[in-house]
Amino acid sequence: MKCLPAELISSLQSAKRVTVLTGAGLSAESGLPTFRGDGGLWKKYKAEDLASIDGFLKRPQVVWEWYEYRRSIYANARPNPGHLALVELEKFYPEFTLITQNTDGLHFAAGSENILELHGNIRRNRCHLCGKLYPEKVEPNGQVPPRCGCGGMLRPDVVWFGEALSPSILDAAWRAASQSELFFSIGTSALVQPAASLSLVAKRSGAVLVEINLEPTPLSFEVDYFLEGKASEWLFLIKEALQ
Ligand code: OAD
Repeated sequence: MKCLPAELISSLQSAKRVTVLTGAGLSAESGLPTFRGDGGLWKKYKAEDLASIDGFLKRPQVVWEWYEYRRSIYANARPNPGHLALVELEKFYPEFTLITQNTDGLHFAAGSENILELHGNIRRNRCHLCGKLYPEKVEPNGQVPPRCGCGGMLRPDVVWFGEALSPSILDAAWRAASQSELFFSIGTSALVQPAASLSLVAKRSGAVLVEINLEPTPLSFEVDYFLEGKASEWLFLIKEALQ
């Protein structure tokens, strides 16, 4: 049976500023595939073909259709108990920031409020030329991908490999990490930068660092607590410890 360490419970109860970084492992329990590991998207598909501007410019139709396929899966996904526990944590702490690498929008659907989407949101589009934002569903106007008024092709509003993150979102994430007393890294392989560095920023600024994952990651030897197992199960215990 899982049990939170007593010192972690006391940190949970005394902290005022808490930051959480989530990754694909949190949404795995909503039925969405992760990127790495068994069954991960990047085991089956090449990231450079489907998640880079070069891949998009080379085969825009293929990339667009792959994202449409993923959206059809995401459309049926619902927040799981892990997402819902994070909504409760946000109510408990005076300062709470939820940084996510996930583009599925499930933290919003669950009801979390202070969310920083580091890698964008797959449920939106934007013009690859002028940057104008579009909703997920757009009139195809006979072309695949659909075109913006300026003539540019639409693409999902996500950050692809080799692209910069939004400076304002990254700044806010950095600030939250460096000001937190308690920082959680949940369901992420901690391999993709700059997201992975946020945990270390928090630790070096004095935060207690907690990782929740099914298996150890490169971050694990830096953390104060490694909680091995499903995110939803540990988050349930954490939520209970605050009641
Ligand atoms: P990964 O697929 O790299 O890692 C998922 C992690 O979740 C692994 O370490 C798993 O062990 C863990 N995991 C799986 N199920 C879990 C569960 N139920 N509870 C706890 N942990 C679990 O996903 P990310 O680290 O999120 O980029 O990937 C980072 C970025 O790489 C993504 O945002 C994506 C991808 O390319 C973009 O979309 C821009």
